Parts: sequence; structure tokens; C-alpha cells
Amino acid sequence: FQPKSLRGRRVLVTAGPTFEAIDPVRGITNHSSGKMGFAIARAAREAGADVTLVAGPVHLPTPRGVRRLNVVSARDMLAACEPAAQSADVFIATAAVADWRPASASDQKIKKDGSGQTPQLSFVENPDILHAVAQSERAQRGDLFCVGFAAESHDLVAHAQAKRARKGVPLLVGNIGPAAFGQDDNQLLLVDEAGVHELPRASKLNLARQLVADIARRMAG
Ligand code: C5P
Repeated sequence: FQPKSLRGRRVLVTAGPTFEAIDPVRGITNHSSGKMGFAIARAAREAGADVTLVAGPVHLPTPRGVRRLNVVSARDMLAACEPAAQSADVFIATAAVADWRPASASDQKIKKDGSGQTPQLSFVENPDILHAVAQSERAQRGDLFCVGFAAESHDLVAHAQAKRARKGVPLLVGNIGPAAFGQDDNQLLLVDEAGVHELPRASKLNLARQLVADIARRMAG
């Protein structure tokens, strides 16, 4: 681990879940705690980077020295990331972005009318933020190094390799084992063009530091 290995670099990180409104008081979200992404933002800052953290709704303190942009929905997250990615050197997508959102959010609270009828929700697909940023001119030119995450319940290596190709990113990080949601430790699998490398179980901060050091080496090399 080289201290200040990312000095002078701009790092953009997404973290946490997104929240997709159904009406002004309800919505759909997921159990992402944001801990991994916040640890990565902290580790990147420790390594000397200028860090922007785009965070979905989570109750975590902002790591010292990190610029935080709070967002709610996937579309908000994309809108925050697109301009920030224009000047970033690294994009690390750890957010658990909701795949779908209600096709239309009601601007008034949907009332229970006593008839026993339930609202029928239909969904539309959310934008894929990582894919969009990875397809940007800056990333395609090789000026923006994009890193994706994958949480899979089975066949992690095969799924991570397929996801790496589908997202068009050089590095895809898999969470090994049962859902790491909310836990303080994790175990990671780094999947790149050359193959697979495991980071054994450790605290999320320890893993974040290892991942940041790994990214810094890739950028130097
Ligand atoms: O497709 P899937 O959700 O499994 O991909 C996970 C990776 O893609 C993560 O890096 C996540 O942050 C990113 N992602 C995204 N926008 C989405 C869905 C996933 O940036 N709409």
C-alpha cells in the first residue's frame, strides 16, 4: 500500500441504494448500507485523491475531505455523475441502483379507499449509470478508469466476467459469499482481462484500501 498513490487524481464514487418514489410518502429501495462505497471514498481520499461521493439515502458520516452529493433516485444519481465524470480519472460504481422504478409516481399520496382494491404498479427500467459512464468518450479514450461491482448469489466468477464485458469496464469487483449488506467486513474478487484475484475476508475499509492501491497501480502501469 503506497500512501498518496492517487495524488492529483479525481475519483468519483457512487454508494448506497437509490429510492424510487411511488408517491410522496412511499417508494421502493433496497438494503444497501453504503458502507463499501463510503470506505472506498475514504481510502481514495487517504491516497491523496480529490474525491466526489454520490450517495443515495444512507445515514453514514461523510469521510473527511470528501465532497458528497446526496441523491435519491437512479435518475438523480445519473444526473450527478455525468458532469462529475467529465473531469474524473476514476469512476467506482458501488451503488446498488434500483433496476426499475414505478412507471409514474403519483404526486399525491395514494389513498386506501376501503374497497379492498390495491394499486397496480408498473415499472420502467432505470438508466444504467455505470454503463453510460463507461461508454462516455472520456472512458473510451482511456482517460477515465471505470470499476464496477457485482453482488451475485451464485456462479460469481462467471457472472462477474459476463458483467465486466456487458458493462464495458476493465475491472469488475465481485462480493463473495452471502449478501454483504450492512456488514462491516467483506470478501472481494477482482476480475479483469487477465483473470481473477481474490482479496480475502477483511474489514470493508481494509479491502477498500487494497482496492484503491490496486487501482493506483493499474493507472501508474
Ligand atoms: O447490472 P447490475 O446491477 O448487476 O450491475 C452492478 C454494477 O452496475 C454496480 O457497479 C452498480 O453500481 C452499477 N449499476 C449502475 N446503474 C444501474 C445498475 C447498476 O451504475 N442502473
